[in-house]
Order: sequence, then structure tokens, then C-alpha cells
Amino acid sequence: MLTLGVNIDHVATIRQARRTIEPDPIAAAVLAELGGADGITVHLREDRRHIQDRDVRLLRETVRTHLNLEMAPTEEMVSIALEIKPDYVTLVPEKREEITTEGGLNILADRDRYSQIVDRLQNADIPVSWFIDSDRAQIEAAAQTKAKFIELHTGQYAEANGESEREKELKILAEGCEFALSLGLRVNAGHGLTYWNVYPVGCIAGMEELNIGHTIVSRAVLVGMERAVREMKLAMQGKL
Ligand code: PXP
Repeated sequence: MLTLGVNIDHVATIRQARRTIEPDPIAAAVLAELGGADGITVHLREDRRHIQDRDVRLLRETVRTHLNLEMAPTEEMVSIALEIKPDYVTLVPEKREEITTEGGLNILADRDRYSQIVDRLQNADIPVSWFIDSDRAQIEAAAQTKAKFIELHTGQYAEANGESEREKELKILAEGCEFALSLGLRVNAGHGLTYWNVYPVGCIAGMEELNIGHTIVSRAVLVGMERAVREMKLAMQGKL
């Protein structure tokens, strides 16, 4: 069955905008699970712009579904993962200046080092997923590292202009998924998925989990606004 990993990074983005204690991503994870999230995903970035080390530690203790730690394949992050032991790790490329993860990781660029990272994590019982574009060479390289999963980058699909381009990108994702499954990989997908474009991706045969963040946090802010204002009016009258 298709499952949903809820990425709560941008709850932390709102908190970090004021360097305060609210909203707490730990509370957001609990509520996401109550809403039916099958997993909680966080990206601990090198510059700690949203999720903090404290968040990952507390989530490890509080998440009741599974915790997927997205991280760059660096020594610092590998040692954090080995200490915290998330349920799985998704290895992503990371550039300081990007607004969000802009493309899949190029496994071929540093294949030997990346294979060693997979070995170290999986020897510690932390399955590894590679966040890659739907490209045969990358999928083959992912399988050669013996990683358990890939996460197909859905950014190009999400940004496609018009129906025919969207169909073309969807076909590329479906072909990548089929190829990866034939190599024994398990397949997730994510990035840029919204309430309006998610359905066809979820229909790809063999797709296991979709990791979705920004659109869910955006909607949470809007559907919660009316109640939040109502409660502030009560608080102003000493009635909350
Ligand atoms: N998957 C990966 C690997 C990501 O880096 C991100 C963004 O942090 C997501 C999924 C979620 O993307 P979005 O916030 O656009 O839903």
C-alpha cells in the first residue's frame, strides 16, 4: 500500500524565523501521525536552517511510525545518523545557497565513498535510500551500492508546463520505478508534490512511499488560521 512520509522541515522554518520555541516540530509530528502520517521525514541541513539536532533526537524518541532522516552524505551527518539511528536515511545532495534540494544526487560522481557510507549505515541496521533523478545510470549505481531504497526526484514532474510535458515526466518516473524494482530496489518519491499533482505519482505501480512537506505545511497554516485568530480574540479577553 502507498504510504505517506510527512516532511515537517517547514514547521521548523517558521520557528527559526524568530529563533523561538514555537511551532515545535515535535508537536507537529505527533499531530501528523494522528492525521494518518505513515512516517515523519526531516532534513538536517549542514547550515541548520530549519531542523536542529535537538529535533532529530527528540523525534527519535517520540515518533511512533518511522523516522526518515534526510541528510547529505558527509562525515558529520553519518556520525549523527549512527548515533541517533533513524529508521532509515535518505541521502540527498546539498548546496548551502539553494532554497531547497534542487536535483537528485549524482551517485556516479563519488561512487566509492558513497558505497562505503551505505555500508556503514546499513551495517548499523539503518537502511539507506538514494534521492536521485529517474535516470537508468543513477538507478543502477544505487543498486550497486546495495542501498535498499531509492527516492525518485519528482521536481521536474511538479514543475512541468502543460499536460504533455507532465505526461512525459510521469512516464520517466514510471519507467525509473519499474527499472529500480527489477534491480531489487524499493522505490519512494518526492519533492514538489502537491494536493493537485500527487495522484498520478501515487498510481505508479510499485511506488511505496511519497515524502511530502511544503504543500502540507502550507495547507496547515491556512486551514488553521481562522481558529488561531478566534483563539487570540479569546486570549485578549482573558477567556482562553
Ligand atoms: N524528498 C526529499 C529528498 C526532499 O529533499 C524534500 C524536500 O526537503 C522532499 C522530499 C519534500 O519536498 P516538498 O517539501 O517539496 O514536499
